Amino acid sequence: MALLLPCGLLGLAVYKGDWQNTMPPKDAVPSDVLVVILSADQNGHLTPCGCAKPMLGGLPRRASYIRPLPSANVLKVENGDLTEALGRQDELKAETTLEILNELGYDVINLGEKDFRLGLPFLQALEHRFQGALLCANARKSEGSSHFKEYAVVLRKIAGRSVRVVVIGLLSAQFAESVQALNPEVRLEPPAETLQRLQSEIVEEGEVYLLLYHGPKAEAAEIARAFPFFHLVVHAHQDDSNGANGEADRIGSVVLACSGKDGKHIGEAQLSREEAKGKWRVAGVKYVALGPHFADDARVMRIKQIYLQRVNEEDLLSKVLRLPTANGDTFAGSAVCRSCHMHAYRIWKGSAHANAMQTLVNEKHDRDPECVPCHVVGLDRQGGFVSREKTPGLQDVGCESCHGAAARHAKNPNVKMPKAGAASCNSCHVPEHSPRFDFATYWQKIQH
Ligand code: HEC
Ligand code: HEC
Ligand code: HEC
Ligand code: HEC
Repeated sequence: MALLLPCGLLGLAVYKGDWQNTMPPKDAVPSDVLVVILSADQNGHLTPCGCAKPMLGGLPRRASYIRPLPSANVLKVENGDLTEALGRQDELKAETTLEILNELGYDVINLGEKDFRLGLPFLQALEHRFQGALLCANARKSEGSSHFKEYAVVLRKIAGRSVRVVVIGLLSAQFAESVQALNPEVRLEPPAETLQRLQSEIVEEGEVYLLLYHGPKAEAAEIARAFPFFHLVVHAHQDDSNGANGEADRIGSVVLACSGKDGKHIGEAQLSREEAKGKWRVAGVKYVALGPHFADDARVMRIKQIYLQRVNEEDLLSKVLRLPTANGDTFAGSAVCRSCHMHAYRIWKGSAHANAMQTLVNEKHDRDPECVPCHVVGLDRQGGFVSREKTPGLQDVGCESCHGAAARHAKNPNVKMPKAGAASCNSCHVPEHSPRFDFATYWQKIQH
């Protein structure tokens, strides 16, 4: 088993307790260190949804973190799973993310298993547009060569010297089956085999060695033990606990780092060179929570607005899958209930639910299939919300969002309504979007 020691025991400086709540001062980065800005598993979170406050993350805030950093000695890497890659919207997100990473001067992207769901031709188009290097050393063709670049050699100017940094990208072999099933042209070679081969090729290529390993920490640790020439191994598939406990892991002299998932945090590793021996070592790793104290970068927000425009133009909202309603009835709209249920209607009208579409309009997400389902009546049901123009009576969270389709009952009250119950809240008040939800306290606010 891998031996994971908290760095403190080994004298590796880590910026303690590092959910930094302030912007870094512009001179925070000394010019005699190599800085690696790292992240992985953004999983399509371009910006936080904003359903609860405060929420962490988003590329516009990451941009505010990155912009003040100097470019001479800073390297920016993204370690895969840019999106969930589950459909057209994620293709748009992948292109948008790439454009933002270009805008921020990213040097390297390593591919994750989800990225491979986009398919080889799409990934090659992304590679073409990326101004840095798109890596995956172990996605091989049948004759043995690689589909993507295996490594990049990046030059940085540190303390007046030109330093060659070698960055290798690998994908965990545990995804071989799923990657190959979707991309028959790809054979995912076991990472250790790839490294064995590359090791002899790159020994003279640089003086700092960085591995982007798209796989979990335990596997990254194995690799670090077998290939101790790496200075830093950035891995993936980890929760957000690294920053909270303020510790970095190391295997011998190799430091492992991961900033968690969904782009809520950003990692920053600093490497320094011991003048006497000429050897590089990781001096520290910090993880910064991208909270609201980081402003939304205006240029990145503009790129995101173009993404939303494309979602609108392609009318992705009209393409959501629709199932029959649970009771076979259709929707009447909340206004129809008013005449007979004045008391309930008045309470509903004064609640946040009756304003849920306006919230999305204000956020410019009112035609975004990733938001609308929870802010209207029955988007995923036949006869449910289509658009604000076509089905104005079904915008907002209405009576039938909880009580179910009720057109028959509204025409003939002898048709009984079933209980809505506490379970009726669960489809929308999920932890990701309503972390403080508790039925008793929430129901009190809308009881009718
Ligand atoms: C899974 C359901 C769900 C999805 C998807 C969803 N929301 Fe929400 N949203 C909610 C719920 C529930 C609340 C109320 C949370 C609370 O107060 O506990 C909410 C609240 C909000 C609020 C805060 C309203 C206020 O004034 O307090 C905003 C803004 C918002 N959502 C925007 C969005 C955007 C933008 C998206 C898409 C990117 C989105 N929502 C997707 C369920 C959802
Ligand atoms: C024409 C009048 C009328 C309209 C319109 C109407 N209802 Fe009713 N509703 C009633 C009556 C009367 C009852 C009570 C029936 C009973 O107690 O058996 C009732 C009962 C209910 C109940 C069950 C209450 C209980 O005691 O369990 C719910 C829920 C309900 N209505 C929801 C709605 C919704 C949602 C709409 C709009 C889509 C709506 N109703 C439209 C007249 C109406
Ligand atoms: C169809 C999705 C949906 C369902 C079902 C739903 N909600 Fe909501 N709820 C929302 C959204 C969206 C908001 C935020 C609306 C806004 O402000 O734009 C919200 C907001 C609220 C708020 C206001 C929160 C605040 O602090 O102001 C309360 C209270 C609430 N919901 C209670 C409930 C309860 C209780 C249930 C179940 C009986 C329920 N909701 C079912 C989507 C839903
Ligand atoms: C956020 C979810 C939600 C919304 C929105 C909502 N209700 Fe309810 N409603 C409930 C729940 C939960 C109950 C408690 C009884 C139950 O579980 O069915 C209830 C109870 C009722 C009752 C029965 C009251 C009683 O005495 O038993 C009526 C009638 C009713 N709602 C009508 C409406 C009408 C009309 C609207 C829209 C104007 C509406 N509701 C909006 C969730 C909701």
